[in-house]
Amino acid sequence: MAAPSVFETIRAAAPTISVGMLTADLGHLASSFEILEESRVELVHFDVMDGCFCPMTTIGPPVVAAVRTSLVKDVHLMITDPVQKVGDYVKAGADVVTVHAEAGPYTHRVFQELGRMENANDPARGIVRGIGLLPATPVEAVEPLLGQVELVLLVTINPGFGGQAFGKETPARLERTRELIRRSGRDILVGVDGGVTRANVADVAGLGPDLIITGSAVFDGKAPADNARFMLDAVRSAARTS
Ligand code: DX5
Ligand code: ZN
Repeated sequence: MAAPSVFETIRAAAPTISVGMLTADLGHLASSFEILEESRVELVHFDVMDGCFCPMTTIGPPVVAAVRTSLVKDVHLMITDPVQKVGDYVKAGADVVTVHAEAGPYTHRVFQELGRMENANDPARGIVRGIGLLPATPVEAVEPLLGQVELVLLVTINPGFGGQAFGKETPARLERTRELIRRSGRDILVGVDGGVTRANVADVAGLGPDLIITGSAVFDGKAPADNARFMLDAVRSAARTS
């Protein structure tokens, strides 16, 4: 039987978490990934920042490629001119590629090109195309692109740093996004990224997103395995009771 597509894998796991590796122990990346795999996490979230789109500079395609893992590679591009660069991330093994609505005038073209690219890990699995939105961008900006994406990622914080507070406007933004998706008639995943902690993860999960990105709450420098299991359990039990 053919392996499920990346979209089907995430849809079947949803609601679930995608763990940001920004605050992982970069000197021991392999063991950070093993911890996630052993904790039954299914996605790892790479925050790619170029020092132009947002203040921080992080990683590029060589790091995405170097990581050997069974996890879905969820690559969040906070970069300018993605049209020139997405191909390198796909070649590096990105399974999910999120490009920002604010990254330039060519998002339509980026998604067109991504739609023609093959997943480098397994051509049969496809690529999930995500559109990212920063907190100040009206969610209606995604409407013209809903025919070309499989994920809408609502960033709830200022891009560039982990550990900020979850944006209060997110519940209303999430609801409006879901309404736009309902009207489009397509099955599109919705994710929230930033400010999800042990203290608020159940409430965030109760809002009904498919994907919750969580970074510093898992890689806190102390107990990543315990944190990952806690966040995953909290998301699953909030989904069961809602
Ligand atoms: C911010 C990134 C987020 C962030 C998440 O620019 O997109 O993925 O690092 O980190 P926490 O969970 O610490 O807010
Ligand atoms: Zn992110």
